[in-house]
Amino acid sequence: MKLWSGRFSKDVDSRVNDFNSSISFDQRLYRQDIEGSIAHSEMLCACGIISVEDKEAIHNGLRGILEDVESGKLEFSADAEDIHMNIETILTERIGDAGKRLHTARSRNDQVALDIRLYMRHEIDETDDALNGLIIAITDIAKNTMDYVMPAYTHLQRAQPVSFAHYILAYAQMFLRDRQRLNDCRKRLNMCPLGAGALATTTYPIDRHMSAELLGFDGICENSLDAVSDRDFLIEYCSACSMIMMHLSRFCEEIILWCSSEFRFITLDDAFSTGSSIMPQKKNPDVAELCRGKTGRVYGSLTTLLTVMKALPLAYNKDMQEDKEAAFDCADTVKMCLTVFTPMLKTATVNKENLRAAASKGFINATDCADYLVRKGLPFRDAYKAVGKAVAYCEQTGKDLETLTVEEYKEFSPLFDEDVYAAINLETCMNNRKAAGGPSPDSVKVQLERLLEANSNI
Ligand code: ARG
Repeated sequence: MKLWSGRFSKDVDSRVNDFNSSISFDQRLYRQDIEGSIAHSEMLCACGIISVEDKEAIHNGLRGILEDVESGKLEFSADAEDIHMNIETILTERIGDAGKRLHTARSRNDQVALDIRLYMRHEIDETDDALNGLIIAITDIAKNTMDYVMPAYTHLQRAQPVSFAHYILAYAQMFLRDRQRLNDCRKRLNMCPLGAGALATTTYPIDRHMSAELLGFDGICENSLDAVSDRDFLIEYCSACSMIMMHLSRFCEEIILWCSSEFRFITLDDAFSTGSSIMPQKKNPDVAELCRGKTGRVYGSLTTLLTVMKALPLAYNKDMQEDKEAAFDCADTVKMCLTVFTPMLKTATVNKENLRAAASKGFINATDCADYLVRKGLPFRDAYKAVGKAVAYCEQTGKDLETLTVEEYKEFSPLFDEDVYAAINLETCMNNRKAAGGPSPDSVKVQLERLLEANSNI
């Protein structure tokens, strides 16, 4: 018998029953559902709507159910449709009439809106902790690699020298913004929908502020229609997660490249690499590839939610039951990726020599060579042209800017002299970029300090 069977003359068709039932995926809300019911009944009692005895029976009954679910003693049933009705049915079986009073001044519409907010609040906090762990891991590596010169690229062509520390701190900056986005989303999420009822609150003299406070909310949803039909916070969360995954996929892409024999910038720990079933020599960066792949899955959740919510009239519509699987999968996926990516990064070896070797090819000091001529009085455009010609000459003769003789240099500009070699030394090129936000160790130190401070202020 359904809890709502009063006005029906037939049992629901079994196919409808299966189709309608959400218990297979919303059962993970059991803790939040119980927590919400405890606060709701506390408030009902404080407002004189139920008796103290009923409230005590409800609380004890709910706590018993919680224990039994957690110890695996209790199984939910598809017949009871969803987690809310499962718990209410079991409670009533156990404690009788008091159980039937729990749903006074409440609807499943405000109940589910509450449960999912509570659940996602916790997921946001866990996602945020995982991101914080990643930021700390990156900054720890940065502290030790400020003098590891490497080429930075534009168009994937070697461009200018930076340090490995500077390079990976760019990712820490992205993840810092991601944490800010998550926390911003949390603020808007943290308003309590309970008491909105089906859509128009209730005639009982409830105290919405009290239940909101009991559940750790910052306030109540101000409009009862909005309270039961708002899923913005899920969309915002999945959007923040999509951004996290977009950033992570870029980092993964670079790690995959860096592990190739062509780069060998880093070596992954054996525990975080996988082999091939046929090629004995292979050591594959599967973790990074899977994270890159799972990005699509997270974008999928965001698209699902945006599409489910599109054009829905107020207030609750059953379509909204489709919100959960997408949001849960998004949270599970992002947390799983971060949980394995961070230790993979921490245990990787950074190959200083290979970074340096790559930096010394590709004329990444050509800008500095031009700046050298500028310091000797040549206008930048002329200096740029002279060095361009020198680079072309190097390419024809198989030389590089470090190995050209002064005589050869003078062919391109009489201003060249012995001191050119010191000016185009890679470390000099990097260390001279002292502007705020640049790759010189001093600038990187300031960046690191400010980043850590911003990160700890979230
Ligand atoms: N299982 C439903 C959901 O997840 C709960 C709310 C049901 N409300 C209703 N009026 N049928 O959305």
